[in-house]
Amino acid sequence: MSDILVHTEGGVSTLTINRVQRKNSLTADMYGQMADALAQAAADAQVRVVVIQGHETVFSAGNDIGDFLNTPPRSQDAPVFRFLRGISSFPKPLVAAVCGPAVGVGTTLLLHCDLVYAGDNAAFSTPFVNLGLCPEAASSLLMPQRMGHARAAEALLLGEPFSAESALEWGLINRIVPPTEANALAQQQARKLASKPLASLLETKRLMKMGSAAEVAQRMNQESEIFGRMLGEAAAKEAFTAFMDKRLPDFSKV
Ligand code: COA
Repeated sequence: MSDILVHTEGGVSTLTINRVQRKNSLTADMYGQMADALAQAAADAQVRVVVIQGHETVFSAGNDIGDFLNTPPRSQDAPVFRFLRGISSFPKPLVAAVCGPAVGVGTTLLLHCDLVYAGDNAAFSTPFVNLGLCPEAASSLLMPQRMGHARAAEALLLGEPFSAESALEWGLINRIVPPTEANALAQQQARKLASKPLASLLETKRLMKMGSAAEVAQRMNQESEIFGRMLGEAAAKEAFTAFMDKRLPDFSKV
């Protein structure tokens, strides 16, 4: 079975991250599939809303670390950056259901979703610094804006995880439910949206985002350039190798 499942019904296209045995970590191939699915959903007049969901035990452990080590993204056309541009500029409403760990891009992609429903087991984290990297998905801009600099600094500089309760208090998510109910709630809200006139949804989302769209795109490009360079540097290599070897990284020489 594919690692990304796409199911479209009643105007709602649902993307399910389906690689639970690897904690739904994302490979270049999976980013490519998600980028293609978003492009198709944007172009298809029958699709009014997209839902992104994982499993009730895990949303996503972020980028596949072996993939980072072996096939790092080499240009702005790399699938990961194509996916990030696609989700950040997606014109129709995006709904997410998130349960369990949401690491790295598992958290930052949510900054581009319009409605986010979380299981009470959701655990958000953006440990880019711990991996010798820098933020992506315009999270260096959007996290301080959404949660304040102090909280964003704990998340982005210290790499400290935060809970569903904190995410709700800080305005990053809409509601907390039992994990078994998160996907169903996201579907229910998506169906409500899909019953509304598409042109009104499109114009409203465009108006809500127009003040920040150019700045988000510019920041994402800047981050991608730095991220791409840092992937090849010694700190990231040590962090990835340590993860694969199941040991703590040693940054004393970098
Ligand atoms: N890339 C590649 N493999 C990953 C992965 C990732 N991002 N996250 C988990 N896996 C693999 C583990 O190596 C493990 O493989 P194994 O069965 O061969 O040992 C398997 O998935 C299960 O993961 P495990 O760590 O045992 O599960 P857990 O429930 O104890 O912890 C996480 C879950 C998500 C907290 C933990 O896996 C984790 O921290 N992953 C890395 C997150 C990360 O740094 N992502 C990059 C962000 S940019």
